Amino acid sequence: MSNLVAQDKALIWHPFTAQKNMPNPIAITHGKGTLLFDEDGHQYIDAISSWWVTLHGHAHPAIADSLYQQALRIEQVIFAGFTHQPAVQLAAALLPALPGNMARIFYSDNGSTSTEVAIKMSIQYWWNKGMPERKKIVAFEGAYHGDTFGAMSVSDRSVFTIAFKDVLFDIISLPLPTQANISDCKAILHQHASSIAAFIYEPLVQGAGGMNMYDAHLLNELLNTAKLLDIICIADEVMTGFGRTGMFFASEHMHKKPDIICLSKGLTGGTMALGVTAVTQYIYDAFVSSDALKTFFHGHSFTANPLACAVAYTSWQLLQEPSTVDKIAWICERNSTAVDHLRKYLTVKNIRQLGTIVAFEVSTGEKSYLNNISAWITQYCMQRGVYIRPLGNTVYWMPPYCITPHEYDTMLSVITDMLTNLPKE
Ligand SMILES: Cc1ncc(COP(=O)(O)O)c(C=O)c1O
Repeated sequence: MSNLVAQDKALIWHPFTAQKNMPNPIAITHGKGTLLFDEDGHQYIDAISSWWVTLHGHAHPAIADSLYQQALRIEQVIFAGFTHQPAVQLAAALLPALPGNMARIFYSDNGSTSTEVAIKMSIQYWWNKGMPERKKIVAFEGAYHGDTFGAMSVSDRSVFTIAFKDVLFDIISLPLPTQANISDCKAILHQHASSIAAFIYEPLVQGAGGMNMYDAHLLNELLNTAKLLDIICIADEVMTGFGRTGMFFASEHMHKKPDIICLSKGLTGGTMALGVTAVTQYIYDAFVSSDALKTFFHGHSFTANPLACAVAYTSWQLLQEPSTVDKIAWICERNSTAVDHLRKYLTVKNIRQLGTIVAFEVSTGEKSYLNNISAWITQYCMQRGVYIRPLGNTVYWMPPYCITPHEYDTMLSVITDMLTNLPKE
């Protein structure tokens, strides 16, 4: 064990990691493009974009340069009463590109805060309108919207939230829509409409809940009903935003658009922590009042951090370059071929793809986050130079857009090789 790892083990508590018998963390010294390098000289293809954040690759020169240049100008300033070029420039770039006539950007500093802000805004919207009885949030079973209390409340009651279930607020849960249940889902919205503030959803792919994918047409139907009932629709695009589903934003797959959009992760190309909650004009207008109590009293020390906004703007420009757009299309195509190939493996169930994301279950017991096969798969693939981190027995990939054809082939061959060597049940 290196000195660094020994010190880590003595000092640090890692996220989403059982501490007892925790495997030694791998000390990463640097990254380049799709690759991560450790202190023992190994290299790994980062096939899950370091928890879905890295868009253009690690240590991207243009992003690094904008970070450096911004740090020389202003690194941080209180955002109440002050503004700065990076925040305004980013808002001006994002607003016209976001689905659904978004009019204002509210900044925070991660995905959980972006959803927390959206939930609070929705509840206060109705309070400001003199209808405080509209305070319930509707969310999907299997959802994950973050780890703060509001975000946990609107997430599934799962292994992530079980210890807190008695202190989370009640929500109205809907199953993911299917042809069989769509009428029931709509009926639930109708039945509770007068008490519902908002409906929050991860459009088309539920990430941490197990890469569950569902139908755009059915989501569109639900959004249509919600809108007819004046329910605020919150698209949590923290994971699905910035090209992951093949479109810049997953909400582009639906005809009906959200009233609020939450963004983070790929927002800065995966370089800095930043959250965005974008809202339509009518939401914003409910907070413009001479009554001080109608103010949105919410903010974070690092709201709209200039460094984060500067790199987000650079990342957004990189995303729009034709070469990136072509590359995303290329990944989508390679994924479709890979999905056909995966069907030959008997150990694989429920293969699914949306854009740059492919997921499937390996047939070792129930679909569960606590399925031990995850650790085995991670280790097997890492020993062969590919980093994936299955959600229990749900294996998936979602690489940075800079992945080369050779790296893609290596990733696929290591994963398929893993499938033929799975331990017997
Ligand atoms: C859809 C979704 N919303 C919110 C979050 C929370 O983001 P963060 O981890 O930045 O707090 C995540 C994180 O995985 C997510 O996938």
